[in-house]
Amino acid sequence: MSTPEPVAGAQQGPDPAARSPDGSDPVARSPDGSDPVAQAPQVSDLVDRASRVPDLVARAHHRAERLGFGMSCEEPVGPLLAVLAAGVAPGGRILELGTGAGIGTAWLASGLTGRDDATLTTVELDPVLVTAFRDSPWPSWTEILEGDAAALLPGLGRFDLIFADAVAGKWTGLDLTLNALAPGGVLIVDDMDLSRYTDSEHRAAVQRVEDTLATDTRLLTVRIPAGTHLTVATRRR
Ligand SMILES: C[S@@+](CC[C@H](N)C(=O)[O-])C[C@H]1O[C@@H](n2cnc3c(N)ncnc32)[C@H](O)[C@@H]1O
Repeated sequence: MSTPEPVAGAQQGPDPAARSPDGSDPVARSPDGSDPVAQAPQVSDLVDRASRVPDLVARAHHRAERLGFGMSCEEPVGPLLAVLAAGVAPGGRILELGTGAGIGTAWLASGLTGRDDATLTTVELDPVLVTAFRDSPWPSWTEILEGDAAALLPGLGRFDLIFADAVAGKWTGLDLTLNALAPGGVLIVDDMDLSRYTDSEHRAAVQRVEDTLATDTRLLTVRIPAGTHLTVATRRR
């Protein structure tokens, strides 16, 4: 890694304004006399801590490998799912459409670590994936529903966070998902980078989802051009 250039105008070395009244360099010490700079975590430690993968996610990656499942969500969606899940209020409900090998589910669940006041429901059509999910340990507030998201959605009630990651409820029947989004709820979709697709039908579907999320007056929407490109929308209260 190269050393970054200093920002123009940025202070190099000690700040003269931070000097002691007698002009000497202040030497900050903790009350116990130790040097707080020596105790402070280094940037590399912080980066390492932030990028550490939760156990549930590591397990889901192994499951995906074992199943040969190659459609799991990619960075930065996973950690973003955890961050959004952590913000769900007590009594909140989280929904994922399309479980796959459970990597997205695992990120969502990891955002609720230490809590038991919210629920996480994931929907999957493929019985092999449903069985693999059920054979793995999950927190008690996590459930998987087997079936077609389009058929199940109207009976599931409203959710505070939805990760729409199946064909149904995203590329087709997005209205069903929007109807299931509670006021103040957040919807996240990924794989929105049009340039990744050559198939005209799929390009049209991506464009349709983008347009719907951008123009539906119930929503406040942002496109995030990271990873496979995400769109995040909050349903106004
Ligand atoms: C992109 S993968 C999901 C990846 C997963 N959400 C993750 O983050 O790792 C899409 C999944 O949706 C499932 N699926 C496809 N059509 C579906 C439908 N109509 N209802 C429910 N699940 C469906 C597929 O079997 C597949 O497992």
